[in-house]
Amino acid sequence: MTRHFLRDDDLTPAEQREVLTMALQMRSDRFAQRPFEGPQAVAVIFDKHSTRTRVSFSAGIAELGGYPLVIDAASSQMGRGESIADTARVLERMVSAVVWRTFGHDRLEEMAAHSHVPVVNALTDSFHPCQILADLACIADARGGVAALSGLDLAYVGDGANNMAHSYLLGGATAGMHVRVGTPEGYLPNADVIARATQIAEETGGSVTVTHSHDEAVRAADVIATDTWVSMGDEGEKEAREQAFGAFQVSDRSLELAAPGAHVIHCLPAYRGKEITASVIDGEQSLVWLEAEYRLHAQKALLTWLVAQ
Ligand code: CP
Ligand code: NVA
Repeated sequence: MTRHFLRDDDLTPAEQREVLTMALQMRSDRFAQRPFEGPQAVAVIFDKHSTRTRVSFSAGIAELGGYPLVIDAASSQMGRGESIADTARVLERMVSAVVWRTFGHDRLEEMAAHSHVPVVNALTDSFHPCQILADLACIADARGGVAALSGLDLAYVGDGANNMAHSYLLGGATAGMHVRVGTPEGYLPNADVIARATQIAEETGGSVTVTHSHDEAVRAADVIATDTWVSMGDEGEKEAREQAFGAFQVSDRSLELAAPGAHVIHCLPAYRGKEITASVIDGEQSLVWLEAEYRLHAQKALLTWLVAQ
């Protein structure tokens, strides 16, 4: 059966370790895998803005021997109302995989339901699982390997209801991490996602905590993560969000509370002085540029793994 990657928990813990291990190998031997030799095309479709996702998938598919077919959805017939199902039925006859960044997660599920080639989530309103794979691979690289992930304390502070929060919960729990989300009232993660992450954590030895305290979230954390307070689609709430999230900024004080030598990650784009201070993101404990580079390696590993199933 065709395997898709729509949510972080679409990979079992063992499968996630396999993909992450391959991602680290990809970094040291960049052209070792050529699953799209031909070149076979992979569609990379965008309903929302992107820099890293567009570039990392494009470069990555080319490095895998393939042809990245980057499509601005608004200029395709989907932009004029052609159904997702019909689009999937056409794409699967011509491309080896479909990567899509869109709004509602149900749209991606519909594409996957009608596709016999792997469909990959390049970000929806609900999840950003390729980013978490990259984050986990980056942390593993910085800490001596994939086995080092299990048991780490990962604190995510900021918008607890956004795609990154949900993916840290599911992906972090899958990796056996102790995931703590610090977020103000009114921005709690989706209850089903918390329940699923808790269930996964019970299997992997990790844990899940959601708190309204920044300090409780980051205290003794090995890794601190944050994300923009205003995700794509939330622009109309900018002022209210900046007020609500003020106490959840990642600053030098966050690092004082965290474990010595804690690492800081941010999926980018970052807004210095808002969710993170310049001193932290540009400081010695920040991994953000290696993290961005890992988008390339992790997605190449994921695509290679998916088409081999
Ligand atoms: N982190 C991330 O997904 O970046 P882009 O929005 O630039 O793709
Ligand atoms: N939460 C952010 C992530 C951007 C990569 C957004 O959805 O805009």
